[in-house]
Order: sequence, then C-alpha cells, then structure tokens
Amino acid sequence: MFQLRTLEDLSARELDDLLFEAGRYANGSSCREQLSATVANLFFEPSTRTKVSFEKAEHELGLHVINLEAGTSSITKGESLYDTVKTLEAIGCDAAVIRHPEEKYYEQLEGLEIPVINAGDGAGDHPTQSLLDLLTIQQEFLFFQNLKIVICGDIRHSRVARTNAGILRKLGADVWFSGPEEWMDESITDGKVLPMDDAVKTADVMMMLRIQTERHNESGEWSKKAYHEAYGLTEARERQMKQTAIIMHPAPVNRGFEIADRLVECDRSRIFKQMANGVAVRKAVLVRALNLKEETV
Ligand code: CP
Repeated sequence: MFQLRTLEDLSARELDDLLFEAGRYANGSSCREQLSATVANLFFEPSTRTKVSFEKAEHELGLHVINLEAGTSSITKGESLYDTVKTLEAIGCDAAVIRHPEEKYYEQLEGLEIPVINAGDGAGDHPTQSLLDLLTIQQEFLFFQNLKIVICGDIRHSRVARTNAGILRKLGADVWFSGPEEWMDESITDGKVLPMDDAVKTADVMMMLRIQTERHNESGEWSKKAYHEAYGLTEARERQMKQTAIIMHPAPVNRGFEIADRLVECDRSRIFKQMANGVAVRKAVLVRALNLKEETV
C-alpha cells in the first residue's frame, strides 16, 4: 500500500513519477472521469494552504470528501487517533489526509488498511509541501544538481526545513542555512551555515521560513524590526541576489518580519506559484495513494 508519511517512503522512481504527474496537472491536464473513492481530511492544527489545496485537488478529481472537525469529533471524548481513523476506515473512507501537532503521529496508525497522507506532523515532516517546493524548483531550473539553496530562519522548529534539506541533498543540491544561532540544528544543517549577507549572494533559491512561535518554549522572542534587520530578506539584501535567483516561502508569511512586504509579490517571488503547485502535487499523491486508474485529457 502506498503511504506518504515522509519522503523516505518514496523510491527515487516514485518521486520522479509523482513530480512528472504533478507537472502534468500543473500544466493543465485534467481528469476525464469522476473517480469513486472517499477521502477524509483530519486537521488537528490550523492550516489554510494545505487543507484548501487538498480539498481543491479532491474535488477536481471527483472524489467524495469528508472533513472531520477535530473540535466536534469524539476525539474530545478521549477517542484515540487510531480509533478515529479506524472508524473512518470502517465507515468506508479510502484514505486519510492528516495534520497533527505530534511528531510521527502516524506511527500510532500502523495496522490500518487505508493509506495515510501526512499533511504535517509537528516539527517533523511536511512531505507534500516538499513535493510542491521540488516541482517549483524543477519548473524554474529543470535540475537540482549543484543548485545552491539557502533555507533561512527558524530551522530548528520547521518541518519544511527538515524535509526539504533531506530531499534536496539527496537530489544533489548544495543546501545551506541562515538564521539565528539558537534556531540552528546541527542534525539538519550539518554545519552548513552562512550569514544572511553572504546567503543572498550565494543562493539560486532563497527559501524563507516563518518563525514557528507555536513550537517555541523559550521566552524573549525577537521584535519584528530587529529580526528583519538581522535575519530578514530586506529590500537591500534582495538587490544583492543573483539575477536568476528566486525567492520561495512555504507561507503563511509574516510580511515585514522574515521578508520585506514588497518582496512577497516581486518578480523573483515564486510564493504564490508554490501554492498553485500545491493543488497539482496533492492530486498526484491522491491518485497514487488511492491507486486510481484515471484517464486524463
Ligand atoms: N505551507 C503550509 O503548510 O501552509 P498551511 O499551514 O496554511 O497549510
């Protein structure tokens, strides 16, 4: 059974195939037949992009969609995540898309007969975000080999940083990091850290990250102005970037904090393209997970 808990679940061939299929959807291929399967979306953490783009993908594929509202479900009566998903399986759901604050929550779900698609597990992984990031980079540069990618900001608490660092290195990219020392994590950075003023001159891709305050225990957060000047992508720093370099961000964006307001929609920005690619990637993942033989036009 195909599952997508982390990108480690994918062989090189499966990754290539998913990006190829997602690319076709991004280029306008659409599904000819209404597919007969039911997908349950379970979001135990807030989400705009991931939740809405999964729903959009599901509707465009003609799937039946069930959105379980965690706050009004029997989880509030103490039902476990396993029993909740087992119930959905018994009722006839064919796959579950799950976002949960607990890292590796999916390990509790061993033994289920329906595939689980991880829509983000705490500070662990965010595989479909990574896939849409890979598609966006591939559309821009065609290849990953030796591409200089700098991931900037709150590395330690970011599932996007963790997942992207692993897969981009595997694909041959030269991955660097920048940000406050207290948020660097050697297990992710492997010591490849650059000051922000060098990062902007080095990068083919500047991948900016939001500060994940919801995952911080420490007090003494940065002020917007101090952070922006020390570690943000300011307009002055953007002028130092290579001519062909692009700006990415998984969003939500805190404008004026990690990135200058004007740069969010500047010519270099691929931030909204990433979001559009999210629908394409999630379609490809759903079709693969549900093992659907869909005809496309
Ligand atoms: N990038 C991302 O996961 O955004 P949401 O939290 O809005 O889904």
